[in-house]
Amino acid sequence: PSLSVTDYLRAHIRTVPDWPAPGVQFRDITPLLQDPKVFRVLIDAFVHRYMDKDMRPDVVAGLDARGFILGAVIAYELGVGFVPIRKKGKLPFTTVEETYELEYGSATVELHTDAVKAGDRVLLIDDLIATGGTMMAGKKLLEKLGATVVEGAAIVDLPELGGSDRLRGEGQLPLFTLVDFA
Ligand code: PRP
Ligand code: ADE
Repeated sequence: PSLSVTDYLRAHIRTVPDWPAPGVQFRDITPLLQDPKVFRVLIDAFVHRYMDKDMRPDVVAGLDARGFILGAVIAYELGVGFVPIRKKGKLPFTTVEETYELEYGSATVELHTDAVKAGDRVLLIDDLIATGGTMMAGKKLLEKLGATVVEGAAIVDLPELGGSDRLRGEGQLPLFTLVDFA
């Protein structure tokens, strides 16, 4: 039997133990990007979902840094614009900002105040959901500007860290992920 998309993608994610800190099993998505056939399957999995008339966003927002790689390509394929949510200190124009905790450490992210308009329906993209802090911070930034995040999407979910449950529950954010690692 042929592999499901999930199993095909899972087989191309590399796990690096104890990186960047002891006890972290780092799920490295770079092998998915490196192989052109796998990269296409990956991007098409998202594009297929969001091409649908009811799902198509007005804007795609990508989270620094791996969400840029995916988000920009998905936005291009959907024929909508792309806006970057960046780590603090990188965006030149006026910004809104939000500080949050990570699986390892803490961070502040920023978004240009003219990146989205009030009422925009936004698809928020990252590579992976761990504690959910990054995606929640992105959602808050977009909402500060009056936009609605219609869905969060990522390649990988780490459900044991509770982020996806927290986002779906108290965060009220629908999520779409392709591969779980327990
Ligand atoms: C990783 C990952 C997500 C985030 C997920 O990024 O790419 O953005 O952590 O963790 P969370 O769900 O606990 O917030 P990282 O902060 O390592 O930054 P990078 O993309 O610049 O490497
Ligand atoms: N970001 C936060 N936790 C991570 C993990 N375990 N693997 C890859 N990226 C991450």
